[in-house]
Amino acid sequence: MKLPPSRGCLSAWLVTTLTSADPAAQCYVPVPPAPGLVPGRPAWHDDDLQLALWCCYELHYRGFDDVDERWEWNPAVIGFRGTLEQRWLASLRSFASHGAVPSAAVADMLTGLTRRTGGPDLSGYLAREADRGQFTEYVAHRSVYQLKEADPHSFGIPRLTGPVKAALVEIQADEYGSGMPERMHSELFRSTMRWAGLEDEYGHYVPAVPAVTLAVSNLMSLFALNRRWLGALLGHLAALEMTSTGPNRRYSAGARRLGAGEAARQYFDEHVEADAVHEQIAAHDLCGGYAAQRPDAAADILFGASCCLALDDELARYLLSCWGAGRPSLALPSDALTASAARSAEVEPARA
Ligand SMILES: [Fe+2]
Ligand SMILES: [Fe+2]
Repeated sequence: MKLPPSRGCLSAWLVTTLTSADPAAQCYVPVPPAPGLVPGRPAWHDDDLQLALWCCYELHYRGFDDVDERWEWNPAVIGFRGTLEQRWLASLRSFASHGAVPSAAVADMLTGLTRRTGGPDLSGYLAREADRGQFTEYVAHRSVYQLKEADPHSFGIPRLTGPVKAALVEIQADEYGSGMPERMHSELFRSTMRWAGLEDEYGHYVPAVPAVTLAVSNLMSLFALNRRWLGALLGHLAALEMTSTGPNRRYSAGARRLGAGEAARQYFDEHVEADAVHEQIAAHDLCGGYAAQRPDAAADILFGASCCLALDDELARYLLSCWGAGRPSLALPSDALTASAARSAEVEPARA
């Protein structure tokens, strides 16, 4: 993957720095200060901020073909990321409404949070009404995270001990296909992308997605790459697992209605089954267990879960409002997804 085009002064500063300076020469010399941050709207709708954050975080995953790997721990870039994270966290704190949280109540409180109703019904829309182009757009948005599915939460493994570590490893082992590369959830998602006629290489749609899609991914990276937010990382994973089975059943139904065969739906079907187990492990063994070890992190667990649910709702609202207004939700040339839909017909004939 190459660095995506910048979207404002923050991401422009980062792109210029990462591609024009020598990281060895810059290691202990401050690079020019990052441009000032402009407050005013929630950070998850700030394209420039989210893209700059996404690029900073990506240096710790697979990086960019056109960026020297030595930038990963460059003090100036880490300092720049810290400045962005302050603003990011200030926005996210609007989701935190938990006072003191008794550690023994964490699993039940997670259940309460994840069973709340009344949010935008994206999965119902995709199951019943979305046309092929909208479903394809939805898959492209999700590819930003799903092609590295489970990687952010794996940063939690070396930071845990005992039964809580074992619980996280148990979940992650399934996410990575239990030793079978073709069963890795990221690989299953690639099959869905190919059915949709989308390009399935890592990061392909990053330049086309809006801030809120990057924010969903950046939330995980914020919690994953800052050990201080370990509780939030576990709460985030629990929220994902505990809200997975119903929506994935509906995504699968939508894909089937639009002609997807078994292989293209396998990603969704796998989550209906696996996450019925994962949600129990995540709520009780992982989050309940960690809260028992670290009662001071109980509120962070719920904060992570609340942020996850709230940003998922923000993305759903964005998609439904675009489609309701007849607008595309991706910044792509108007014929790009039409061309991919045509390509997809050749990839996999639909099976009943
Ligand atoms: Fe998964
Ligand atoms: Fe899972």
